Amino acid sequence: MATHRIGIMTGGGDAPGLNAVIRAVVKYAVGELHWQVVGIEDAFNGLLEHPRRLQDLTPKSCKGLLPQGGTILGTTNKGDPFAWPDGNGGVRDRSAELAEAIREEGLEGIISIGGDGSQAIGWRLMQEQGVPIVGVPKTIDNDLAATDFTFGFWSAVEVATEALDRLHTTADAHDRVMLLEVMGRTAGWIALYAGVAGGADVITLPEIDYDPERICAKIQQRKDRGRNFTLIVVAEGSTPATGEALPSARRHGRGHIVAGGAAQTLAQHITERLHVETRVTVLGHLQRGGSPVPFDRVLATRFGVRAVELIEQGRWGRMVRLRDGMITDVPLAEVARDPRIVSLDHPLFDAARKVGIEFGAAL
Ligand code: F6P
Repeated sequence: MATHRIGIMTGGGDAPGLNAVIRAVVKYAVGELHWQVVGIEDAFNGLLEHPRRLQDLTPKSCKGLLPQGGTILGTTNKGDPFAWPDGNGGVRDRSAELAEAIREEGLEGIISIGGDGSQAIGWRLMQEQGVPIVGVPKTIDNDLAATDFTFGFWSAVEVATEALDRLHTTADAHDRVMLLEVMGRTAGWIALYAGVAGGADVITLPEIDYDPERICAKIQQRKDRGRNFTLIVVAEGSTPATGEALPSARRHGRGHIVAGGAAQTLAQHITERLHVETRVTVLGHLQRGGSPVPFDRVLATRFGVRAVELIEQGRWGRMVRLRDGMITDVPLAEVARDPRIVSLDHPLFDAARKVGIEFGAAL
């Protein structure tokens, strides 16, 4: 006989490893502990729509999930129950309705797999509507302060690094300046790690406004040394110190700013100043799709198991996290702080500068 019946949902942008968390939760909670686990489709939408969209999850229904990208439950970044689109351009609060639906379905609480926005919603639901929540952090951006790494990040870095390796050979063959724009929103983690792993000559970060002149000087210096090509990683949120706005910055989902045109903006500066050939590659959602790398599969599995352990212990209102190699947990109340961005005293930033990578600023 089932001793617990819990819901599980994925919210916000997807990240490789979401299915691995779902699989771990189901294998442990259903397969070993004989609980019931109900998958809620498209974040909380599955509970707020009529008819409801729910799936009974079993180890059998999770077969083959570990390497699968995306999420079998679907996700959305437009599903805030406190600010639900009313169809007339406004929003309304449906959180009480959601709490009622959770009670009607006999769910004791919810495992919410999501980024900063989803964790903040989870905490608010618990406080204001008494819905028990355990959080599992995900995002390719790796910008949650409460955990050392989110799953999905290393898969994104892998894709960006492979792209750099490929750009390297063609840049060299054609004596071109190649710019690769990577994701990360307001944090430069993907740009920094992929830039170091892929041997970039220049990295621009959202954390540091860059001076195009310094970057042009770096390209010129390489030319003077007989290196006729340059590889540049541009974080999508990075902007020039010259002050112009990115051409296509826009809002998405819950009001986050999504940049657009960061690499194109820098390429234009370089072409105008140096009259060299530049080419821009925007990697986009290739960084989010596809199979998780082993690190992300392992982290996702450990997170899923820990989430179930927290519920076993009755410790709702917490988020699992990785700290110094250990899986621990933290109160949800502490999670929704400022995003973790690259700090200038980060050891990798220091190492990057020591191997000659230019960040476009006097540091
Ligand atoms: O937060 C993850 C992320 O992929 C960011 O790196 C990126 O800025 C944003 O989501 C893209 O959002 P969307 O999928 O809505 O275009």
